This record gives sequence, structure tokens and C-alpha cells, in this order.
Amino acid sequence: MISTICVIGAGTMGSGIAQVSAQSGFDTLLFDINTDMLAKAIQGIEINLQLLVDKNKITTAEKINTLQRIKTVSDTNHCIADVFIEAIVEKMEAKVAVFNQLAQVNHPGAIFASNTSSLSISDIQSAVKHPERVVGMHFFNPAPLMKLVEVVKGKQTDDAIADRIVQLCKQMNKVPVLCKDAPGFIVNRVARHYYLEAMKLVEKGFASVENVDAIMEASGFKMGPFKLMDLIGMDVNLAVSQSVYEAFDKAERFTPSPLQIQKVKEGNLGRKSGKGFYAYGEGR
Ligand SMILES: NC(=O)c1ccc[n+]([C@@H]2O[C@H](COP(=O)([O-])OP(=O)(O)OC[C@H]3O[C@@H](n4cnc5c(N)ncnc54)[C@H](O)[C@@H]3O)[C@@H](O)[C@H]2O)c1
Repeated sequence: MISTICVIGAGTMGSGIAQVSAQSGFDTLLFDINTDMLAKAIQGIEINLQLLVDKNKITTAEKINTLQRIKTVSDTNHCIADVFIEAIVEKMEAKVAVFNQLAQVNHPGAIFASNTSSLSISDIQSAVKHPERVVGMHFFNPAPLMKLVEVVKGKQTDDAIADRIVQLCKQMNKVPVLCKDAPGFIVNRVARHYYLEAMKLVEKGFASVENVDAIMEASGFKMGPFKLMDLIGMDVNLAVSQSVYEAFDKAERFTPSPLQIQKVKEGNLGRKSGKGFYAYGEGR
């Protein structure tokens, strides 16, 4: 039975996933190596829940109970849970290291789900001591609002573990879709060109950032590619571009854009830093 969920990483995705977990009734641990991020995550969750109270979607008591179910942790030895949902930096070594550390202090049935956008679940499995209990659980941003979760089976994922994660998504009121472990899975593979082609248009001077966004939104997309990249985070989106590019043997069509590389170099990461393609005030 799953009673405690530990979310690893309290950034854009981890904070949202922790909110989803606590709202779904699970005791939720939120772990980060940066304690400022933990404080900001709790603040953000409180603001989100208050907005739901203001819209009469939840009661004040539900808000309080949800917040009480979340505990922040900054030592992996205190991360004891049934399911881990990892949402740290998009780097293979970091994800493998944290899974191996957690496995040492947890029960032998604990499940290790990664929210990676683009790293291979099978590659993570080949570097951990408990590969059959590793699975992809790819939420979308913002996690409390977006219904879709790609559940990714790596080469060594136990079928029963993938099934439990599918069930968990349903308990979280999400819509799980079982995916194969292909580069970018489904959404990020298809969406790569939404970002890359948009940046090519701007780089070559054929259109402005604002024009592209306005036209794509007018044609039915909820968010233009540049607004979406600012929401995702330029560093995260570049990491996804790079790993999909590598996974396709550097195919020209997946070449990361100089524009996104430049934004990351400048520290203009999007909403979280206060500036990306657009300006947002203070950031998080
Ligand atoms: N941003 C998106 O739209 C999005 C969507 C789906 C999936 N993802 C994936 O989710 C993951 C996190 O992305 P994000 O946008 O939340 O990043 P983020 O930069 O907002 O947050 C990452 C957090 O991880 C923490 N961290 C880094 N290394 C750590 C470690 N070793 N142990 C514990 N905490 C650590 C950082 O302090 C930071 O708080 C990435 O794998 C990314 O590909 C992102």
C-alpha cells in the first residue's frame, strides 16, 4: 500500500507534484538540497491552495489539511517513503546518485519514479541497484493543473510496478498514458519542433517572439512556444533539447537553438528567474 510519497527536488515541478500528492491524501515529504527552495515551494503551494479556496474549489479546512500533510526534509536519511518521485536537475549522474542513496535507507519494495523529460529510464536503470523498481512518471507543467502523466516503462521495469504507478496517477486524479522509453517519450518528442522551429524563425529575423506566440495562440494552441519555454525554464528546455539531439545521433532537425543556449548563458531562465523571452518581475 502506498501511504507516504517523497518528492525529490522542490523546484517548478517538485513543488507542484508535492501539492498534487498532498491534495490526494498522501503523507508527503518534500526533499531538496537547497533549503531556500523548500521554503519557496511551501509558500507557492500555500498561495495555490488559497486561490482554490477563493474560487470555492476547496474549503479552508481542506487547505489546512493539505498543508499539514507536507513535511520538508533536507537530509536523505529522513526520506523514508513508499514511492519517490524525483524532480531534480536533468542530469543522469544526479538522478542515479539520489536513487542509490535513497535505496540504502528505504524498504526493499520502495518505488523510484523519475519525472525526467528526456533522459532514458533504461539508462537510469542500468546504473542503479534496483532497476526493476525504477519507472518514469512524467508530469506536465503546472503539475497541479495538467492532467496528463506519461508513465514510462524502461527495459527492466517490473510490469507490476508500472501498474502501481498507473493506479497512483488515477488516485491523483491524473490521466496516465503508458509510454515506451523512446527519446523525449511522446510529448517532448513531438513538441521539440514547436520550440525549435519557432526559435529558428526568430533567429533568422522572419518573425518576432510576440508575433509567433500571438499567431500560434490564435491558431488554437493554449500557449505560444516562447511563453511556454519561459514557463518550462530555459535551462530545463535546453537540457531536453540536448538529450533528444544526442539520442538521435545529433540529427540536424533536433539541433539545440543558439537562442536558447544564449538565454541560459545569460541566466535568463524564464519565469523562475524573472526574465526569459519576456520579463516577469521578481521570479521565484
Ligand atoms: N519545467 C518543466 O516544465 C518540466 C516538465 C516536466 C518535467 N520536468 C523535469 O522535472 C525535473 C525538474 O525540473 P524543474 O523544472 O522542476 O527544475 P527546477 O530547476 O525548477 O528545480 C530543480 C530542483 O532540484 C533541486 N536539486 C538539484 N539537484 C538536487 C539533488 N541532487 N537532490 C535534491 N534536490 C536537487 C534544486 O535545488 C531545485 O530546487 C527535470 O528532470 C525536468 O526535465 C520539467
